[in-house]
Amino acid sequence: MPLAGKRILLGVTGGIAAYKTPALVRLLRAEGADVAVVLSRSAAQFVTATTLQAVSNRPVRTDLFDAAAEAAMGHIELARWADLVLIAPATAHCLMRLAQGAADDLLSTLCLATTSPIAVAPAMNNRMWLHPATVRNVARLRADGVIVLGPASGEQACGEVGPGRMLEPDEIVRAVDGLLTPGPLTGIKAMVTAGPTREPLDPVRYISNHSSGKQGYAMAAALAAAGAQVTLVSGPVSLTPPAGVDVVSVTTACEMLDAVMARIAEQTLFVGVAAVADYRPARAAPQKMKKRSGAVRAVELVENPDIVAAVAATKGKRLVVGFAAETEDTIANARDKLVRKGLDLIAVNDVSDRTIGFEGEHNAVTLVTEDGCEHIARTSKHEIARAITDRIASMLAARGDFEIPSAR
Ligand code: PMT
Repeated sequence: MPLAGKRILLGVTGGIAAYKTPALVRLLRAEGADVAVVLSRSAAQFVTATTLQAVSNRPVRTDLFDAAAEAAMGHIELARWADLVLIAPATAHCLMRLAQGAADDLLSTLCLATTSPIAVAPAMNNRMWLHPATVRNVARLRADGVIVLGPASGEQACGEVGPGRMLEPDEIVRAVDGLLTPGPLTGIKAMVTAGPTREPLDPVRYISNHSSGKQGYAMAAALAAAGAQVTLVSGPVSLTPPAGVDVVSVTTACEMLDAVMARIAEQTLFVGVAAVADYRPARAAPQKMKKRSGAVRAVELVENPDIVAAVAATKGKRLVVGFAAETEDTIANARDKLVRKGLDLIAVNDVSDRTIGFEGEHNAVTLVTEDGCEHIARTSKHEIARAITDRIASMLAARGDFEIPSAR
């Protein structure tokens, strides 16, 4: 019962995904949580207060000016009661109102009055999610400390495909577990890079590699499950981000470097899993290069910045972890990278073995530090990520004077 004794105030706003909230309440209660539901007026079009009252075993609140309900537990008491305010689904309208600090209905008032963490699970049409106004509101909320869970990508109720689906109830519950159950990395801010980078030759072609992002996304999920507040800087991949992780999407190595360096000062931990392209074309042609011109055959390349080395160069007390993709002399080459790039730990995978490394679901790594090596035999990328997370947690714990720069 990981949520035993935890009090969750679930705000439900008006989207089709509201029909999943009875299942969400059941799962939260099955983990031991006490759940009180606040239903917005438009949410009541999709799910009834009667159903939510039955599954939560508590009266459902809908109105700020309900004298009887206020007499039982006033809205300020309700705001104090909650260990977590969770809004699922959170509509575009709800995100806008939270970002503005509105206080003209029960849920928005509670969000202003609570000192507990607030998590939102957005759900909306993909164009609404990608609209600059929503992007702005979500950025504002993140800056205010609101935790954004998802959304997932996929087929939507409107028939379109894209980002904007609410995470499934079990994914939301896993994220809530991570938020409310302190893990070994609770209070730590961590950044992970994942996926490939793409270096444009012209508007049609680019240089890249086989990275799918799976190992990096698994790493971000494992760190978040251990309690870290994770920022994932991701190259182009087609994966759903882990719940509760902030994602910054980039394309090129230079964009990845900029995204990393803009946020690195506040990070306690950096894990570079991305397969950053080592070189980029010196110039990207503005028009598609014609085969007959011969230009494609003689592309001048320049070296990309080394992101993990740049992070390590400014690291102070930050723990910096790299990955190494090798095809021969794996341990010797990894040791060389560990020292040359100034890393604390490097996980080397032998990518000449087609059953591990790029693209698949499995990996096998050797963790190399200045003190020695530890091999983790072939297993899922998620297990590899969990083992590396355990190692990171013990390395941080061993640094007695380690400062956690910013608790959640
Ligand atoms: O994404 P998947 O399909 O799941 O595959 C996983 C993986 C094989 C990509 C992953 O396990 C892995 O090995 N990642 C590192 C790949 C890599 O670029 O290795 P490298 O030996 O070239 O680089 C060493 C380290 O320097 C890495 O931490 C890398 O992120 C970093 N680097 C490299 C070049 C560069 N310009 N900047 C960097 O930060």
